[in-house]
This record gives sequence, structure tokens and C-alpha cells, in this order.
Amino acid sequence: MQFVRPDEIDELTRSAGELVACNDNEIGQRIRVLSSSPKGSWTVGRERWSLAGAQSKFALRWQDGWHEATGSEPTTHIFKPGIQDFRDQALNEHLCLKTLGRMGLQVAETNFTQFDGQSTIVVKRYDRLIEGNNVYRVHQEDFCQATSTLPTNKYESNRGPSALKIIKTLREARAPETEVQKFIEGLIGNYLLGAPDAHGKNYSILHLPDGRVQLAPFYDIASGLPYEHVSNDGFPKKNDGLRKAAMSIGGERQFGRVSSKHWSRFAREAK
Ligand SMILES: Nc1ncnc2c1ncn2[C@@H]1O[C@H](COP(=O)(O)OP(=O)(O)O)[C@@H](O)[C@H]1O
Ligand SMILES: [Mg+2]
Repeated sequence: MQFVRPDEIDELTRSAGELVACNDNEIGQRIRVLSSSPKGSWTVGRERWSLAGAQSKFALRWQDGWHEATGSEPTTHIFKPGIQDFRDQALNEHLCLKTLGRMGLQVAETNFTQFDGQSTIVVKRYDRLIEGNNVYRVHQEDFCQATSTLPTNKYESNRGPSALKIIKTLREARAPETEVQKFIEGLIGNYLLGAPDAHGKNYSILHLPDGRVQLAPFYDIASGLPYEHVSNDGFPKKNDGLRKAAMSIGGERQFGRVSSKHWSRFAREAK
């Protein structure tokens, strides 16, 4: 959905958009600008894409080389250079997603690479269907959108969707029970990795063109464990947000504290 002023409607519906080729130096420069002014705009020129989230990011189209996609041209990949306060965060995210992928979970396809000396994770969009040179959008909703939860309330501790709420939402949307199983595997994966940010906007639902509803592949997963020892005495700070999962499992959120008792309770509640 796009909101424009009335006098812009004609131009918007007329403009098919175009692909503007960009080279590695230009992409590197874009990453540099994002890192030096994280509060600045993520889009340039006539780009129209919009992506949620706290991290600086931009989106490009791969079609025999990288392109900026203007107007209504869809993008195919998301570039996230990483959160500066957390060292090597983009590499961390790439490794976590690759690890879960190797364990058989469906994850967004990522590469960790450099453009003109600037490193970034490049994430292939799973909400696209590609036929030759045509790229079609597939509708997705994250679980805040799907449960009418404001993004500011995305954490369960802030009235955001819980694991049980996500399971209920999948069932109400008539997703097959395999999707519920997949979600639970993601919940386990995030817990084992000590990934603290798996909130309602980091799980999504896909509405396929044939009407089927699926859980989207997992994305935006990074371990908090490398950053735990932040206080001077070398121990994790008591109130460190990285010590807990975003969603509780049978009433417990702290990493290392979820025991078989909590999993059994969660399994009973999720039946
Ligand atoms: N591979 C992907 N394909 C399609 N959409 C994605 C993909 N990865 C993320 N998104 C969408 O973009 C949003 C922001 O991406 P995310 O990686 O979560 O960034 P952040 O780290 O800023 O939260 C997500 O909430 C999701 O809706
Ligand atoms: Mg996110």
C-alpha cells in the first residue's frame, strides 16, 4: 500500500520504474553513508521500497548485476551492514542463519561479503517469485501486523505476541500443522543460539499466490552470547537484555534456565 498526495497519484500509476545499474564502489559508498549517519534516510532518489526494523538497511535488485530499483520495480535482496555497537554483528547474523539452515530449518539465504572494503550481510528476499527477468511480489505479514500489534509492543514483555499467540494465529489462518512445527523449531533454534531478538516482527507469515499460508523462512537471528561479558568484572550484567529470549517457553525466558518442565508446559499449552 502506498500513500501519496492527490496530485502525485497520476505520476505514481504511470511510473513503471526502472533499474539503475550500480557498481561495487557505489554500493560500498552507500554502506559508508548508512554507517556514518544511521538516522538518515535509507532510500535514495526515486526508490520506493519500505522495510521495517531497527537496523540501517537498503534493498537492491539483482539482475545480471546490482541495480537500484526505482518506482514500482521490485527489489530482490536486502543489505544490512550490521549494528555498530555489537562487533561483527552482520557476520554473527550470517553464521546463525547458516547454522540453523545446516540443521534443516528453512532460513533466508544469506551471503557475508564486502563492497569496496565495506562488509555487509546480503539477504535474498523470500517474498519474491522470479520468472526470467520478471520479479513478482509475494505478500507477507510479520506477526505484529498479523495480530494487530503496534511495532512498539513487539516484545512479549511489552504485550507483544507470545509463542502461543503465534501458533494460534497460524492455526486461525489455516496454515498446515507443519508450519506450527516449523515455528517451534525456530523457537528452539533461537533459544539454543542465545538469540534475544526473536520478537513478533522477526517471524512472518507468507500468503502464496495460490492462497496457501506458510511460515516465512527465518531471518534476523543473531546470537547475544558473544556480547554477554560487558561489565568490568567479566560477568554478564544482571539486567542485560541479552540474557533472555524475546518469547518465553513455558513461562521461562532466561537462556540456560528453560528445562524439560518448561518445554512440557509449553507443549501442553500449545496443543
Ligand atoms: N529475506 C527476507 N525476505 C523478505 N523480507 C524480509 C527478509 N528479511 C527481512 N525481511 C523483512 O524486512 C524486515 C526487516 O528486516 P530485519 O532483518 O528484521 O531487519 P532488522 O534487523 O532491522 O530488524 C523484517 O521484519 C521482514 O518483514
Ligand atoms: Mg528484525
